[in-house]
Amino acid sequence: MTQTAPVKTSAASTQTWEPEIIAFCCNYCAYAAADLAGAKRMQYPPNVRIIHTPCTGKVEMEHLLAAFEKGVDGILIAGCLEGGCHFQEGNLRARKRSDRIRQILDDIGVGAQRLQMVNLSAAMAPTFVERVQEIVQTVRALGPNPLKASAAVGARHASPSDQPVESAGTR
Ligand code: FES
Repeated sequence: MTQTAPVKTSAASTQTWEPEIIAFCCNYCAYAAADLAGAKRMQYPPNVRIIHTPCTGKVEMEHLLAAFEKGVDGILIAGCLEGGCHFQEGNLRARKRSDRIRQILDDIGVGAQRLQMVNLSAAMAPTFVERVQEIVQTVRALGPNPLKASAAVGARHASPSDQPVESAGTR
């Protein structure tokens, strides 16, 4: 009698899966709010990696799309309150960009809710924590980014021969 090897189901990996979230935080308000949350020892999920940016206006559409293409499950853009951007309209531009990307995410079946934006003052640490908890819950309910699997396949197929070779004597 032959024995069959146990089949690994995706359900098993889904049970251990935790969303990978990036938070782009502007230097003047959102990063300060995140810092304050840390100083006050406010708890928020460890799934979030903060990327410190000078202003949310510096977060380009290419950055957001590239992050999703590489398999990030969700992105939070956190900037100053409207009217409070230190570069005048950076947060307004970021809002428009995030709306456009949300539309694209919906069109390609990834889900608009994976990208959220919040406007904060430096004192709004509780709001920062709430919004982080909210996006983690939302993305957890959505499941892994569907682009994650193709990003992993692409990485597996990349061989050392795909890397650019620097030939000797070209400097
Ligand atoms: Fe905070 Fe522009 S400086 S959003």
